[in-house]
Amino acid sequence: MAREPLAATPSQISEIRCIACASVVARPSQTFRCPSCGDLLEIVYSGWKTSLNAESLKVIWRNRQTSRTAVDQSGVWRFRELLPLFTDEQIITLHEGNTSLYELPTCARSAGVEHLLAKHQGMNPTGSFKDTGMTVAASVARAEGFRWVGCASTGNTSASMAAYAARGGMRSLVLIPEGKIAWGKLSQALDYDALTCELKTDFDGCLRILSEVVQRMPVYLLNSVNPYRIEGQKTTAIELLEQLDWQAPDHIIVPGGNLGNSSAIGKALLELRALGFIRSLPRLSIIQAEGANALVRTMRETGGRELIAVKAETAASAIRIGNPASWKKAVRVLQETGGTVEQVSEAEIALAKAEIGAEGIGCEPASAVTLGGLKKLVRSGFVKRKESVVLILTGHLLKDPDYTIKFHRGELLGASEPIAAQQRAPIVLDATVDAVVGALKRAEQKT
Ligand code: F0G
Repeated sequence: MAREPLAATPSQISEIRCIACASVVARPSQTFRCPSCGDLLEIVYSGWKTSLNAESLKVIWRNRQTSRTAVDQSGVWRFRELLPLFTDEQIITLHEGNTSLYELPTCARSAGVEHLLAKHQGMNPTGSFKDTGMTVAASVARAEGFRWVGCASTGNTSASMAAYAARGGMRSLVLIPEGKIAWGKLSQALDYDALTCELKTDFDGCLRILSEVVQRMPVYLLNSVNPYRIEGQKTTAIELLEQLDWQAPDHIIVPGGNLGNSSAIGKALLELRALGFIRSLPRLSIIQAEGANALVRTMRETGGRELIAVKAETAASAIRIGNPASWKKAVRVLQETGGTVEQVSEAEIALAKAEIGAEGIGCEPASAVTLGGLKKLVRSGFVKRKESVVLILTGHLLKDPDYTIKFHRGELLGASEPIAAQQRAPIVLDATVDAVVGALKRAEQKT
């Protein structure tokens, strides 16, 4: 297929605007905060209303699936009309996006709905949803001439950033809470050549320190306060809707940590509706771990008006965040889509994770909060049995093998019902045929 030039169209002329005071920012500062009021920034596209046609874009995007060029093969850049403008040469891509949508029939029964789908963002090149945002923001960093990029992370952002920096010929600085990062993620940052610093603090402390470092040193900040990350992560929702033939599901359920991802998916849904791609809006609901429930408390105790920060603790280390930076964006998305918040216990997370694993899919603990949360939303009547639901699974099962092994061995939570039914610890046997046949027969009797 002939290469389409990436020429500027009015649709891609974007502005960076403050979410609170609406000031337009010509060039964001190192910390991506509004120079007038200090709030977060977002990207808006003034030319959209007049220049984009949803029906023709649907065809263009579908046709690009047969193209062999790197930008067309990316599940992010395939949708580039809804992203800021880049030239081919500026883009750092690892063929991100293009993730599968799986049916989860057993989990559906367990949750009490007829139809349940999971979009698995853990199937991205570095094993998490972060790649969809990183391809955009890392490309900006390189285009602006930065030699260094940096992030604070609970693990996945650092893995993704380090990979895209390495591909783009940049160095990366990773700040992580000491001893709180799953091995899969830490090993990625090391292998992808990051300068990895373990700090004796939590994620929130790491982000605070990084915000000061980037003001002293020329390091480009790649946390999700960077609005380019959010633009790339919008494509999760765009690709999902395309996979559903532009029929919006009733509910989309996402885990909440620093709240960039829920903000991004919500932004995409609102934009897709405004542009006429979809007629109805799915309700976007956000699930947190009980021990890291800042948004849940913020919504329940202040109606979303004031952030209630918490001291976070959960074995779902990806979302061990107490002071979420994008809370205001997430509140707006909840309110505009009619979604809700829910929290789940450590046992509910572990059980849900094992159930998703038993479907042959698997995910990391933070992703499993979605299924745990769905069960509660069905029980409360917020999600109805016949409604269609999509869970966003954010990270791959292999990110955190320690957690999985501890769970199955009964070392994470013990073996109380109904956890025991999902525990599948390895059995140590004599090295004989009889021992294996005996184990097979016992297993057969149980099913
Ligand atoms: N799921 C996984 C697997 C994550 O890694 C994260 C965040 C989330 C969910 C929550 O997403 O922060 O956008 O609300 N991980 C970040 C990191 C914070 O550093 O990897 P969020």
